Amino acid sequence: MNVRYSNEPIDTASCDLLVVGVGPSAFGDGAASGPIAQLDAKFGGRLLPELRQRRFKGGEGSALVIPTMDRIAARELLVVGIGDGSWSALRVAAGKAGREARSLHAQSVTVSLPGLDSATANRVVEAMVAGNYQWQAYKPEEERSPLASDWTLLGVDAPGNASEAQVRAKWQAWARDLVNAPAADIYPESLAARARELAALPGVTVEVWDAARCKAEGMVGITAVGQGSTRPPVMIHVSYRAKDAKDHVALVGKGVTFDSGGLSIKPSDAMITMRCDMGGSATMLATTGIVAELGLAVDLDTFVGAAENMVSGDSYKLGDILRYNNGVTVEIHNTDAEGRLVLADCLIEASKIPTVTTILDAATLTGACVVALGDDFTGLFTDDDALANELLDAAKTDGEGLWRMPLYAPYKEMLKSDHAQIKNVGSRAAGATTAALFLQHFVKDKRWAHLDIAGPAFMDKGNSRYAAGGTGEMVRSLATFLARRAG
Ligand code: BES
Ligand code: MN
Ligand code: ZN
Repeated sequence: MNVRYSNEPIDTASCDLLVVGVGPSAFGDGAASGPIAQLDAKFGGRLLPELRQRRFKGGEGSALVIPTMDRIAARELLVVGIGDGSWSALRVAAGKAGREARSLHAQSVTVSLPGLDSATANRVVEAMVAGNYQWQAYKPEEERSPLASDWTLLGVDAPGNASEAQVRAKWQAWARDLVNAPAADIYPESLAARARELAALPGVTVEVWDAARCKAEGMVGITAVGQGSTRPPVMIHVSYRAKDAKDHVALVGKGVTFDSGGLSIKPSDAMITMRCDMGGSATMLATTGIVAELGLAVDLDTFVGAAENMVSGDSYKLGDILRYNNGVTVEIHNTDAEGRLVLADCLIEASKIPTVTTILDAATLTGACVVALGDDFTGLFTDDDALANELLDAAKTDGEGLWRMPLYAPYKEMLKSDHAQIKNVGSRAAGATTAALFLQHFVKDKRWAHLDIAGPAFMDKGNSRYAAGGTGEMVRSLATFLARRAG
């Protein structure tokens, strides 16, 4: 994939698809101006009347494909409505353009949207690449539509650093490929092999603890959850050391490569998508990839607890009690509440690093969060208002949905156990909050935020934002958050 900026004239830009953004003002009383007026001239003044005729008014989310008949150099022309021109309307237009580009089999896409500054232009390209993405590895040849490889933005004032958008978009797609791959291909050890790809980046080292090492180190959660599978669990630790780092952040990702529920087995309908349960690890590894590839001035330690939650004679059982490294004992009441158990080991490990100021975790943790927020919002849990605002602001910048949820201490009551310090589930009530409160027991002396990505990490069906499957949602927002931390 290649992203670039250009100032070539719109009519001579040679590409498979030319995307032109138009707002309602082009259809008002005054004469249209800008790119759409230039194109209208090339079409002998027949483009704008044609759009009007077809009831195109430039509204958010609207789009029309217009045959170019060789009047311009582009093979196809897509006119997209940009509504009020706000960032959220542009993001919708960009996603739409990305999807259309795929269905039109466009390899090279040139885009002209009015009034873009360089920062917004980068984010528009990223949204287009995200809209263009589709997982096709196992599709028959004749049903595949190639993803676009060349993206050009026209007429941006003071073009910015296109490579930044390219890097961010590339890693988001990397995360999506990883989530989409079937659990037969991505299991703890193969996930670790993918994580090792990061070691090619400057400043990055990757260390993998095998099952024996996890056990020896007292990583009881990873060990218990993973013991029912013939695919042994691992702990992945990626570290990135920057030049002149301004901050040190630890990232923790849930890497349950398949969640059958274990002995508290899921019904088939709930299990069908559970290869997505390593989504948190894909998010955190991809974010690490961006930070390292862009050489941002923030040190990172990224931990992934990777395990397959399976049913066998070796499975961990209800009533088992785990004694964690930090002294907390946990009684297992439901083997399907496994994510928090593997995250706990990683949070303990991250808390041990003296220079780490902030720990963020991402996990497809609870169905309760999906019930509360649906597919378009990640649940944010933290006691730290400043950290919450930084994360919310980053998500807003990147057009991703993030919503703060209560980390309400009195509900810790629901986790009380008769035989251990806590149990691994509460009641049905406030399930996303009690999961977050569970995690809090394993964080020590750091700013901490938990991101429950159970809704947005994976789309059961394609929608206006993403094709069906893994989304890589929050990768870009987290990268933005970390870029700001890097000063
Ligand atoms: N991986 C699931 C959560 C999930 C649900 C992710 C839907 C993506 C989509 C998690 O391990 C789980 O099973 N959670 C249980 C917790 C319960 C047993 C307290 C749940 O949400 O039902
Ligand atoms: Mn589960
Ligand atoms: Zn799970």
